[in-house]
Amino acid sequence: MKDRIVVMGGGVIGLSCAFELQKRGHQVTVLEINRCGGQASGAAAGMLAPYSENVEGSDPFFRFGWESLRLYPDWQAEVKQVSGGTFEYTNSGSLYVAYHEADLLALEGRLLWQRQFGSSGTILEGDALFRLEPLLSRQVRAALYTPEESHLYAPHYVQALEEGCRRLGVDICDQLEQVSVARWRDEIVLLSKDGSTFRGDRLLVCNGAWAQELAGTFGVDIPVYPIRGQICAYAVDAKPVQHMVFGNQGYLVGKENGTLVCGASEDVAGFDTTVTERGIERLRKWNKAMFPFLEHRVPFHKWAGLRPSTLDGLPLIGAMDDASRVVFAVGHYRNGILLSPATAKLAADWIEGKGSPSEDYRAFLPGRFS
Ligand code: FAD
Ligand code: GLY
Repeated sequence: MKDRIVVMGGGVIGLSCAFELQKRGHQVTVLEINRCGGQASGAAAGMLAPYSENVEGSDPFFRFGWESLRLYPDWQAEVKQVSGGTFEYTNSGSLYVAYHEADLLALEGRLLWQRQFGSSGTILEGDALFRLEPLLSRQVRAALYTPEESHLYAPHYVQALEEGCRRLGVDICDQLEQVSVARWRDEIVLLSKDGSTFRGDRLLVCNGAWAQELAGTFGVDIPVYPIRGQICAYAVDAKPVQHMVFGNQGYLVGKENGTLVCGASEDVAGFDTTVTERGIERLRKWNKAMFPFLEHRVPFHKWAGLRPSTLDGLPLIGAMDDASRVVFAVGHYRNGILLSPATAKLAADWIEGKGSPSEDYRAFLPGRFS
C-alpha cells in the first residue's frame, strides 16, 4: 500500500528523498520554512569526492559516499531528464597535494586502502603533476591524483531536484516560516505558522542543522550541530584550474560558469551565517600558496552555509526506535550533496520497511544516542 509521506525540510536531502519516494508511487509533501535549497545545500561547492574528503580509512561513512558516487551517473541523468533542466556535472578528477616528504607517506598509505574501493589513483610528482595542473605552486612536492572524483554545480542541482519533484507530483510547500510536529505516534500531523495543517502516514525528518530542535518533541537525543562553512569564488577567464585541488586546509574547484570556488572554513558560530573578513582572508592566504596567480586576485562572491554535523561524525538515517512512522535523514555534515542519491534510496527503503539494514547502515541508526 502506498503511503502519504510528509518530508520536513527542502534541502538536497529532503528533495532527493521526495524525488525517490514519489517515483516509487507514494504521495509526498515537502514542507520548507524558507526557500528550497536556501540553506547548506545551495551553499555547497558540489564536490563528489569521497576519496579526498575521507582520508582516515574505510569506515561506514566512506563506504556510503563511495556507494553514492557510483549511483551519480544514472541519478543525475534521471534528475535532468525528469526536471527538463540541466546542471554542470563534471568528471574532473582530483588532486590532493603534499608539500613535504612526510606528507607523501600519508598519501601512499591512503592510496593503498582506496585502491580496494575502485580508486585508480596515482601519486604524481614533478613534470607529470605540473602537466596536469600547470599553474599549481612549484612548492607542491607531489599529489594524489584520483580520476574517479567529480563535481556538480550545487545551486542548479537543487533547483533541478525541486523542479523534478514538482513534475513527478510532489506537493512542495515552501516559505512556511515555522513548521512544528503536532502528532507523530498514531498519525502524522504538522502545523505551519499560517495555520495550515499537513497530515500523512509517515514523517521523514530532513531539516539538516535544525534537527536538534525536534529532540523535545520526540523525547530523544538528536545531537546535530551547525558548523558554518565560509566559502568564496573568484571570477576567472579561461579555466585556470582543471581538477578539484585539495590540501589539508581547503580546496579549489573551477566551475564551467567561469568561477573558481574556494572553501571552506569550519566555524562554531551557532546558526549565524555571517561571512567574516578573517574567515575569507584565511582562505585567500591558503589559495595564494596553492596557486600563485591568485596573489592579487580578490574573490567577487563570498557566502556561508551551515553544515549539519553530528556527535560521532555519522549521519542519522533510519526509523526512530519505538515509532517507525518517523524516519530521519539528517547529519550529512560535509558530504550531503555527494550522499544525496544513496540517502534517498536508503531513507525510502526505511519508509517502506524493506528488509533489515546492513551492518554499515546500522551505524547510522538515529536511536544510537538515546
Ligand atoms: P539543508 O540544505 O540545510 O536543508 C535543510 C532544510 O530544512 C533547510 O532548507 C531549512 O530551511 C529547512 N528546515 C529547518 N527547519 C525546518 C522546519 N522546522 N520545517 C521545515 N523545514 C525546515 N557537500 C558535498 O557533498 N560536497 C561539497 O562540496 C560540499 N561543500 C560544502 C561547502 C559548504 C560551504 C557548506 C556549508 C556545505 C558543503 N557541503 C558539501 C555539505 C552539504 O551542503 C550538506 O551536507 C547538505 O547540504 C545538507 O543537506 P540538508 O538537506 O540536510 O540540509
Ligand atoms: N565538502 C566541502 C565542505 O563541506 O566544505
